[in-house]
Amino acid sequence: MQDITPFQFNEFKQFGVDYGLSAEAEVYDERHGQFRDVENENRLLLDRLDLDPDSVLIDFGAGTGRLAAAAARGCRMVYAVDVSEAMLAKAKARAEAEGLSNIAFCHAGFLNYRHEGAKAAAVTASFSLHHLPDFWKGIALGRIHQMLAEGGTLFIRDIVLQDGDPLGAISDFVETQRGLGGDPLAEDAQMHFREEFSTYDWVMRGLLERHGFRIQDELFSDGVLAEYYCVKEPL
Ligand SMILES: C[S@@+](CC[C@H](N)C(=O)[O-])C[C@H]1O[C@@H](n2cnc3c(N)ncnc32)[C@H](O)[C@@H]1O
Repeated sequence: MQDITPFQFNEFKQFGVDYGLSAEAEVYDERHGQFRDVENENRLLLDRLDLDPDSVLIDFGAGTGRLAAAAARGCRMVYAVDVSEAMLAKAKARAEAEGLSNIAFCHAGFLNYRHEGAKAAAVTASFSLHHLPDFWKGIALGRIHQMLAEGGTLFIRDIVLQDGDPLGAISDFVETQRGLGGDPLAEDAQMHFREEFSTYDWVMRGLLERHGFRIQDELFSDGVLAEYYCVKEPL
């Protein structure tokens, strides 16, 4: 459902890679498999979140639904939220194939999703928050704060720049991607920095802290990849 005031950022318009295209959704898992071990990522994340059969999880930018499917096995309900119908179709097909009935697929985004179920024990956003410019990241974090139960966890995995030599880190990352997946992966990485909205780690920290999150851990890898484990605190 679209709910856009005249000044609201239109999160249904894709910047950079167009995940609204079925062709992108089709190649997504294979392409990301060239530089990520998604199964291992999900296992480590879910071990740490330590959800129980009563828990609710909201995954923003759920993509092809691998995290949603893995989480649904240990949760009461997973809300898989994405602005791309093509990605949601892949996620739904996965859930059906795996016989999972406790995932709600929501065609919505960080800025217009309305959470109506029980408050979430955890909210996750893996490689999705960078689709919003910084001001709108802040609005999204304020909304997520309201969706989380007291003491709930927010997990963010994203491409984030550090002070020092960010342009060098980007060049190194592009070449690493080229080594792993040739020109298509290198071009995706270049497009990411040219057209999407990755930001500095200190901006991310400021946004998180100002919107009521205590950062428990900030983990960096490969120069530009970051993971934030955060706890909701009272505002
Ligand atoms: C790079 S994919 C990440 C998919 C998955 N979370 C993963 O870790 O592989 C980014 C996803 O975020 C979605 N997306 C983009 N803007 C969004 C927004 N404002 N709200 C929710 N999802 C969004 C895209 O449609 C796409 O499916």
